[in-house]
Amino acid sequence: MALATFSPLKTASWTALENHFQEIKMQSMKQMFQDDASRAEKFTIKWNDFLLDYSKNRVSEGTIELLLKLADEMHLKQAIASYFDGAIINKTEDRAVLHTALRASDDAVIKVDGKNVVPEILEVKNKIKNFTHEITAGIRKGYTGKPFTDVVNIGIGGSDLGPAMVVEALQYYQNHLKVHFVSNIDGDHVHELLKTINPETTLFVIVSKTFTTQETLTNSETIRKWFLKSASQKDVAKHFVAVSTNLKKVTDFGIDANNVFPMWDWVGGRFSLWSAVGLTISLSVGYDHFDALLKGANEMDDHFKTAEFDQNIPVILALLSIWYNNFFEAESEAIIPYTQYLQKLAPYLQQGIMESNGKSVDRNGDIVNYQTGTIIWGEPGTNSQHAFFQLIHQGTKLIPTDFIGFLKPLYGDTNHHDKLMSNFFAQTEALLNGKTEDQVRAEFTKLDYSTGRAEFLIPFKVFEGNKPTNTLLIEKLSPKRLGALVAMYEHKIFVQGVIWNIFSYDQWGVELGKQLASSILEEINSGQVKQHDSSTSNLLHYFLQNK
Ligand code: F6P
Repeated sequence: MALATFSPLKTASWTALENHFQEIKMQSMKQMFQDDASRAEKFTIKWNDFLLDYSKNRVSEGTIELLLKLADEMHLKQAIASYFDGAIINKTEDRAVLHTALRASDDAVIKVDGKNVVPEILEVKNKIKNFTHEITAGIRKGYTGKPFTDVVNIGIGGSDLGPAMVVEALQYYQNHLKVHFVSNIDGDHVHELLKTINPETTLFVIVSKTFTTQETLTNSETIRKWFLKSASQKDVAKHFVAVSTNLKKVTDFGIDANNVFPMWDWVGGRFSLWSAVGLTISLSVGYDHFDALLKGANEMDDHFKTAEFDQNIPVILALLSIWYNNFFEAESEAIIPYTQYLQKLAPYLQQGIMESNGKSVDRNGDIVNYQTGTIIWGEPGTNSQHAFFQLIHQGTKLIPTDFIGFLKPLYGDTNHHDKLMSNFFAQTEALLNGKTEDQVRAEFTKLDYSTGRAEFLIPFKVFEGNKPTNTLLIEKLSPKRLGALVAMYEHKIFVQGVIWNIFSYDQWGVELGKQLASSILEEINSGQVKQHDSSTSNLLHYFLQNK
């Protein structure tokens, strides 16, 4: 079934939310907590070993009811069914959106164009499993007979960010292989990498769904040239494998057809880490951990499909985000994991969230008259506390923030972990309660400040508070829980796209820059600058004269 195509502004609940917003916008959460002793309990969802406490949000039970009504009015239930059933919900590219099929159970039946795709998925998984074993056990060897020590993932966007984020996140579970990522067309990126690896013992995984991406092909060619300085053409087959939907272009590049790991057009790049795009993940942590990552995502899929919306983590997170984006007019959201392992989570989610929902045309092709895609940013705590938290606490902007923490550290160092987590809890408490003028004055009195000095300093030391946060507490970082966490955000993206009446699974907005870059490259190569605006012309002339 196709997704609904009417504006959320046409629903009764949207109007009700607008009215409700006028009542609630000045209310303080601190007061709400004082008024209701069971607030935290009411706004907590427990699922497996995830706990989401969303009580520190500027919402009442009435707000949540209205947001849930909005989800119903936008036919979210039917939309979820269409998403999982393989309906063509990516209409502008005429495709299903089935990254969820990649982690479905082995006996699931999921049809695309009438054909069950699960057997093909299993075949590719098996290929990943066997290949991982052959590389990690040293059965497959490099061209001089040595086992592989290094793996280089060559890809960009969804063909880089997902694997890079997961490999970093699961560093604790890594085997002996050193995994590197090269993505940028900036030659300095690849040349720095080449200084650190040995051609005899390095495996190159070229990941490109289309196999037409300039960055990936240029980096692959540079690397192949470098490789051929010490190896011969026939050795390419031993050292280069590819993940792509474009078998022809891959084999034209010189890669053996047996070394191609297929993917499908119903898997979007930014949702592809569950496919063979995750080959580097499997190589890095072993197939069983890769499989556990998929299982965790599958469990979150089941939760999303079956839990009532008021107990459904991705649904609640999406609705809260809409509440701030469309009613409070918040400009951005922060994601702060309290683990260094998740340092690449925010950049990864930036593509997932902003490439998906950064759209200004609705599902009818009309310009929307409301805000869509949220701006995402973040860094791990506690580093971020010492970088940009000042602005979250005392700046002029409202920045709803997700705090992600773990009950247990991986190395069991409770000294560090307790300090880390005390910061985690302290930040959300400070953001909620702030600090009043009276509290600041009392502190100064205790410290024996002169009245003049104290009164001067008070305004600078007051914290307004009332800053919304979600707290997600997870047992311990593991492949399975990471899979569930990533799937949680994927479904949040889906829910928001459904409600905003936009197509979340295309990315036409990245095309124009690519087209212009290719014609400008011709101008740079020929030295002939064509007609541009005067700024671009001047800059190009300056570049050509001084490069
Ligand atoms: O940046 C646009 C984009 O198409 C992303 O959606 C995608 O993840 C990336 O380029 C890489 O594409 P490919 O895997 O085809 O090289």
